[in-house]
Amino acid sequence: MSSAAALAHGSGASSIAPIFQAEGVVKKFGGINAVNEATMQVADGSITALIGPNGAGKTTFFNVITGFYRADGGTATFEGRRVLGRPPYLIARMGMVRTFQITKALARMSVLDNMLLAAPHQPGESLSGVLLRPGASRRREREVASKAEELLEVFNLTKLTDQYAGTLSGGQRKLLELSRALMAEPRFLLLDEPMAGINPTLGRRLLDHMQRLRSEDGVTFLFIEHDMEVVMNHSDRVVVMAQGTVIADGEPHEIRSDQKVIDAYLGGGSPDDGAESSSAATPRSHGEGGRVTERPR
Ligand SMILES: Nc1ncnc2c1ncn2[C@@H]1O[C@H](COP(=O)(O)OP(=O)(O)OP(=O)(O)O)[C@@H](O)[C@H]1O
Ligand SMILES: [Mg+2]
Repeated sequence: MSSAAALAHGSGASSIAPIFQAEGVVKKFGGINAVNEATMQVADGSITALIGPNGAGKTTFFNVITGFYRADGGTATFEGRRVLGRPPYLIARMGMVRTFQITKALARMSVLDNMLLAAPHQPGESLSGVLLRPGASRRREREVASKAEELLEVFNLTKLTDQYAGTLSGGQRKLLELSRALMAEPRFLLLDEPMAGINPTLGRRLLDHMQRLRSEDGVTFLFIEHDMEVVMNHSDRVVVMAQGTVIADGEPHEIRSDQKVIDAYLGGGSPDDGAESSSAATPRSHGEGGRVTERPR
């Protein structure tokens, strides 16, 4: 059954209309098809995990669908609107936001300023907004500030509010990046290994927060994750990539026993085993042999 048919015939979140659809997406780096005709759907309001061995093309797929890399083929739509070919800031403005490595400029700003800057629609940004609607502008500023405080609290960053983002640890930066993404009030949030480098207590808090955002605000998630326990317990759907293409999608229990998925992970073990062995077994080859052809825009 094709992935689209599987979605249509499945149960639960799968029978809900997709918020995101990609078809035949291709991204080449020199001679390598890092993403090779990838086709997938994400059901509206779902928490969908994107898994696959190292080098499967998961991050590259994210980079392409969020506008950081130019696609070499295929189509992708979010809420029925084309995304491929649009720049990242426009895709983010449409409500499809990804977490991404923090930039140098942001590193030289305080944690709080990072948060405030990430909020959209601030009337105080324009002189006319301040002059013509001073009340609205102040109200929005207060809203933004209290949302920032709330998120910093959730992710245990309150004590770092006034620190430069550049002084934060890797895990803290990751949480700041996620908090910033949430300031943008996304409807579709794409997270690239959100749990990596974060201590288990905060990781649990992050997962709880994802569940809450989904149930209270209807946010849809697509998250790349290697930890199969997290995938099995916290996602409604799982999409599996290997060698640039989508080889399976379904509910977590279906994926776990899918022979194609088991084969895709090194050593022929289950994804649980593969999650660990794959990190060690397949070194990243970015830049090897002078093949680096593109950096994210
Ligand atoms: N900027 C780049 N230039 C050249 N090759 C790249 C670039 N980015 C990724 N690749 C290659 O594309 C393939 C897919 O890499 P990608 O990082 O998307 O995999 P991944 O599934 O995210 O892996 P991981 O689980 O290790 O993060 C790999 O062969 C990788 O070396
Ligand atoms: Mg990756």
